[in-house]
Amino acid sequence: MEKMKAFICTKYGPPEVLQLREVEKPLPKDNEVLIKIYATAVTASDIFIRSSQLPIQFLIPMRLMLGLTKPRKSIIGLVLAGEIESIGKNVKRFRIGDQVYGLTGFGLGAYAEYKCMKETDSTHGCLAIKPANISYEEATVVIYGGLLAFQYMEKGNIQRGQKVLIYGASGTSGTTAIQLAKYLGAKVTGVCSTTNLEMVKSLGAEAVIDYTKEDTLNPGVQYDFILDAVGKIKTSKLKDACKKALAPGGKYVSIDDGSLKLDSKRLALIKELVEAGHIKPVVDRCYQFEEIVEAHRYVGKGHKKGGVVIKVK
Ligand SMILES: NC(=O)c1ccc[n+]([C@@H]2O[C@H](COP(=O)([O-])OP(=O)(O)OC[C@H]3O[C@@H](n4cnc5c(N)ncnc54)[C@H](OP(=O)(O)O)[C@@H]3O)[C@@H](O)[C@H]2O)c1
Repeated sequence: MEKMKAFICTKYGPPEVLQLREVEKPLPKDNEVLIKIYATAVTASDIFIRSSQLPIQFLIPMRLMLGLTKPRKSIIGLVLAGEIESIGKNVKRFRIGDQVYGLTGFGLGAYAEYKCMKETDSTHGCLAIKPANISYEEATVVIYGGLLAFQYMEKGNIQRGQKVLIYGASGTSGTTAIQLAKYLGAKVTGVCSTTNLEMVKSLGAEAVIDYTKEDTLNPGVQYDFILDAVGKIKTSKLKDACKKALAPGGKYVSIDDGSLKLDSKRLALIKELVEAGHIKPVVDRCYQFEEIVEAHRYVGKGHKKGGVVIKVK
């Protein structure tokens, strides 16, 4: 039996619960592909899964789904980019050698050198051909940020010229949401902290607001769509003010309203926008595979800019 390296989550807890081990390399079933993983990422969701530090309303459903005292799937990790090494006999969408990117959902398992995934979408993942013009590492950022931003921005049905505010514009989904709103022709305002104001402007925001300095919005300013891209746990006085600044018929959406859809058609659309240059991945830091624990410490501080990526090979 061939072996591979993987990070096992031995129990819920601090970053050190992740331990590097040699485990069995998986074999694809008839309807699965075997992916040689070149890059993964440490996302906000990975931190929630590993630490299990969540408000009670999220904690109970999450533990029921993932495991009561430790993750049932001991290899965690949600996003991956890599190359198809082998395929099951019923696989039609992919060929050996295809460069792919995807999200593993409840299947987890991206903190490893190899992962088997179904070719079709399910709660255990979605997979598509990766954008050709970006690296494997960059691809991991647009999977997570892209799927989140696309799903929740769609709720706004944004029209050209509308005013859109992205609260939490500097994270993985926020940096993607800013670019998507700009692509849709909106006039975009981004909210972030002082150090990220210039970066958010460079992504296409016409206006930026510093939530560490401002508690209110300019009187009279109203937005057609507001996306809270950091989730309900992170808040500020400015966020409360934003909720009241909707234009008549406007919509306020939190990225925590509902569950993330694993949709390979959406991944294909993200690929097109990335290849056309409309969406550029923002990479904060890149760690080596052996440094995942360190990457978890950094992301756990809650201030990553764009995405934090892991080079597996
Ligand atoms: N619905 C679902 O199924 C689903 C699935 C996955 C994730 N999510 C949600 O999506 C969220 C976003 O994930 P992400 O990876 O895109 O975010 P992220 O990258 O973790 O966001 C980090 C950014 O948050 C900003 N931030 C921290 N505290 C803030 C505050 N009080 N006000 C404004 N900004 C603040 C920081 O900016 P500064 O450094 O500038 O402060 C940092 O750049 C997750 O936290 C989770 O709640 C939902």
